[in-house]
Amino acid sequence: MTSPGSPASVLSAKPLLRVLSGESLSPPPIWLMRQAGRYLPEYRALRETVGGFLDLCLTPELAAEVTLQPVRRYALDAAILFSDILIVPYALGQALEYREGEGPVLEPVRSVSDIASLSDADFRDRIAPVWRTVERVIEGLGPETGLIGFAGAPWTVACYMVEGSGSRDFAAVKSFAFADPAGFGALIDRLVEASVIYLDGQIRAGADVIQLFDSWAGILPEAPFRQWVIEPTRRIVAALRRDHPTVPIIGFPRGAGLMFSHYFAETGVTALGLDQMVPLGIARDTLQSRGPVQGNLDPLLLVQGGAAMAAATNDILAALGDGPFIFNLGHGILPSTPPEHVQALIDLVHRHGAP
Ligand code: CP3
Repeated sequence: MTSPGSPASVLSAKPLLRVLSGESLSPPPIWLMRQAGRYLPEYRALRETVGGFLDLCLTPELAAEVTLQPVRRYALDAAILFSDILIVPYALGQALEYREGEGPVLEPVRSVSDIASLSDADFRDRIAPVWRTVERVIEGLGPETGLIGFAGAPWTVACYMVEGSGSRDFAAVKSFAFADPAGFGALIDRLVEASVIYLDGQIRAGADVIQLFDSWAGILPEAPFRQWVIEPTRRIVAALRRDHPTVPIIGFPRGAGLMFSHYFAETGVTALGLDQMVPLGIARDTLQSRGPVQGNLDPLLLVQGGAAMAAATNDILAALGDGPFIFNLGHGILPSTPPEHVQALIDLVHRHGAP
């Protein structure tokens, strides 16, 4: 049995795993959140051939192809499974639709009886195509490229389940959590359980690393942040570690601000994903001192390209490049990103530390 930091992970051929075991690499490994998607012409071409976005996520041949598109085009150190965080509510029986130009729309879950009507009966059958995608992807990856599996963290998935869509202020989910913590806690418990099954299956199918996306972590005050972000994440991490003690887990509590260090210390995640609002000095002195960090170029600077992108990239590399670090964006790639800017960014990162 090996643990993160043991010789087995240090000797890995995959730079991503080496950094996640605590090594500092120059240049650092790079991958980009939402690196498969609409900014790529080959994605848009394939997307036109399938009916809905859900069909794409649940058809292993196509989802595997889309996962591999960015790693064929660019020298990225990891592929990220192509799926969506809302596949979990779908597999629990919640009605889900992706509307063109509008994003996801779900039948809202707003009460204890709505939660009770979610069903575990078909969960494994409905989610299994994603596990089949992982098996196909690893056949197409080179020996140095990692495969990242993922799930939404319970709080962020609950945000969409309760609101029924994205939201400006997430008033419905916050009101539910504040007014009826026991009832809302039952939803979070269901999501912890479902996420463990889902992620365990991804690891068994071949995922090297897991990332938990908590995109809406930043909207909660301290006490509910501890209750609905830190605690459910800690339970998922502990459950996965029981059977998979060496698989690294990256936590990404976007917008966590002054709570990032508490999240890192208390959830037990291997590495911390940083959004672009985290100051680099603080990232280096108070977060990277605890373990590997990942981030945090503003996605709009990747849209911008040129001198602005280069300056910000060099600042990030200067601050974080000497410790265990994975280069990434501070949030997902935007559909308006010119593909040649991604190439320019990778070239900049690869030149770091070169003589
Ligand atoms: O990173 C990757 O390349 C893997 C694929 C991936 C998708 N969604 C594909 C997707 C990942 C990791 C996600 C995570 C996800 N999904 C998050 C967390 C990260 C974040 O961005 O905050 C969230 C909140 C979602 C929920 C979701 N899915 C929304 C809000 C939307 C609509 C907005 C949008 O970007 O279109 C989606 C749809 C979605 N998920 C698309 C893709 C490629 C676009 C759908 C299409 O191609 O028609």
